[in-house]
Amino acid sequence: MTTNEIRTKYLEYFKKHNHSIIASSSLVPENDATTLFTGSGMQPMLPYLLGESHPLGKRIVDSQKCFRAQDIDEVGDNRHTTFFEMLGNWSFGDYFKEEQITMMWNFLINELKLDPNNFYITCFKGNEELGVPKDTFSAELWQKLFLKNGIAVGIGENPELDGMKSGEHIFYYGEKKNWWSRSGVPANMPDGEPGGPDSEMFYDFDPTDKKNIHKNSKYAENKCHVNCDCGRFMEIGNNVFMQYKKTIARDGIPGFVELPQQNVDFGGGLERITAAVRNDDDMFNIDVFDEAKKLLINKSGKSYGDDEKITYAMRVILDHIRAATFLIGDGIVPGNKDQMYFVRRLIRRSVRFARDLGINESFTREVAETYINTYKNEYKNLDEKSEFILGELDREESKFRVTLDKGMKQFERVVLFGYEGDFMEKTLVSQAVFDLVTTYGFPIELVQELAKERGLNINMQIVEMKIEEHKALSRTASAGKFKGGLGGDGEMEVKYHTATHLLHQALKIVLGEDVNQKGSNITGERLRFDFSYNEKMTDEQKKRVEEIVNEKISQDLPVVREDTTFEEAKNKGAIGLFGDKYGEKVSIYKIGEGENRGDEKLFSLELCGGPHITNTGCLGEFKIIKEEAVSAGVRRIKATLS
Ligand code: ALA
Repeated sequence: MTTNEIRTKYLEYFKKHNHSIIASSSLVPENDATTLFTGSGMQPMLPYLLGESHPLGKRIVDSQKCFRAQDIDEVGDNRHTTFFEMLGNWSFGDYFKEEQITMMWNFLINELKLDPNNFYITCFKGNEELGVPKDTFSAELWQKLFLKNGIAVGIGENPELDGMKSGEHIFYYGEKKNWWSRSGVPANMPDGEPGGPDSEMFYDFDPTDKKNIHKNSKYAENKCHVNCDCGRFMEIGNNVFMQYKKTIARDGIPGFVELPQQNVDFGGGLERITAAVRNDDDMFNIDVFDEAKKLLINKSGKSYGDDEKITYAMRVILDHIRAATFLIGDGIVPGNKDQMYFVRRLIRRSVRFARDLGINESFTREVAETYINTYKNEYKNLDEKSEFILGELDREESKFRVTLDKGMKQFERVVLFGYEGDFMEKTLVSQAVFDLVTTYGFPIELVQELAKERGLNINMQIVEMKIEEHKALSRTASAGKFKGGLGGDGEMEVKYHTATHLLHQALKIVLGEDVNQKGSNITGERLRFDFSYNEKMTDEQKKRVEEIVNEKISQDLPVVREDTTFEEAKNKGAIGLFGDKYGEKVSIYKIGEGENRGDEKLFSLELCGGPHITNTGCLGEFKIIKEEAVSAGVRRIKATLS
């Protein structure tokens, strides 16, 4: 059975049980500002779970596209992906536990023919404090269903301590495992948030323990149980009995009240269910990845599944390009902000991992084409927007290849000259490694791998410390503007900040020393600089300013911070917003080399708290996009880097 067939079977099965089939919502939530992406099927259902009536009735079924950005670093093993489809069915105050569990059993065991011997269940063990009882009803019902299939199963009360005793297929867990809400465990739920106990279903991929998965995993020290992360058991679906709402109001004490109706919210990973049907624990072996995988194998001349590093890289690419294809299909292009940043990251990581496969030429388009082809009947927008999707992938990939090439060249320079410490240890200069990461945008793992290949060392402790310091500074720069502190945004702002210093000095050169800063505003997309000047700038003047700034960028000048006193800064001729700072400690930023403003090789010396990039070379092309009056004697320039 293919993934598409299983999706259809599920939808048709629930249709037969009087559910209305609805289409998947977009990956970008429509009326939900609390999250960037749709990460579960219930998100678009929220109003109906709270009691509003759904136009199509009380029984709904769908397959929802989901993206979980938080899982990006987990991708590479046999079962994690960022993008997946969640099969979902809902009862809005209609059927409850009995019907849901029975329907689910019949679907998985009778329709999909999963072997019930490999099937495991968890239920909520109850919590008196929360006023939520133990879910013996569900546990006993599952037990009866097993028995109907001739399997007498036991119920484990304390699997985390006891492990799994022979014959046990059903287990009780607390709210860390068997409670579901958008915000996780009860304690994290805000006032008014719906949630409830759940019953999860697992598939055993190694029932005879042939593969020794647990014993060979990092969890080997503890007893294995269904919720162990060793990989032997995979969760394939979750029946949430959404019947409660968090309330802080009751006597001021957090607690739960019953929702006006008892709901069911089921979510099951389509890809994982397909893996279970195939009885193969590698999710990347299901059919939807076949064509893309073949392509990677052909292009690289390497095989899938033999070498760990190669397999890992292939899985990352298979996941990331599929996710990027669907995200762009829903209108999110690669960029520096919010959702767009994740699309950028997915594509860049793919290009970087392709290097491990020896693929150094454009490939993302072709991989995406296989996905568009595989999914086009179910997701028509992919086909309709295919040119757009492929174009965006191409553009981002080629842009990043330039970064990758520049960084590679710089890496070679560092290898030639940049060593520190004991000569025999061959340790690359930490500052140079840091620059590769922050200024050249090189992923740190890539620098590490390249160094390892050449038998060179990196002092990771120092480099990481520098990166952390830099990140903290960037966050300061972007605080308030970018909620969630997405990396990359801060980075761009820091670049604009340095460009502002270059612009300030260039204006003094072209328009005269009297020009002074009156204000500055920076976003991830542009800089805005207000300065004292009486006339409109001519085209020639603007051109000259651009030329000077771009020349300084191409000279790749070092940007260096110096901590000093206000007096000293003034003596050196530093420019900048001098307020009432007498006697205070201040920092100044130098662009170029020298001590005092006016020194031949020192281009800029400015009083400033930072942060700045370390070399001008990474700024890109500077362009003035607007010059206008703000008030009498004050002009404003907007400029971009690209
Ligand atoms: N909403 C539940 C989940 O995402 C089904 O697991």
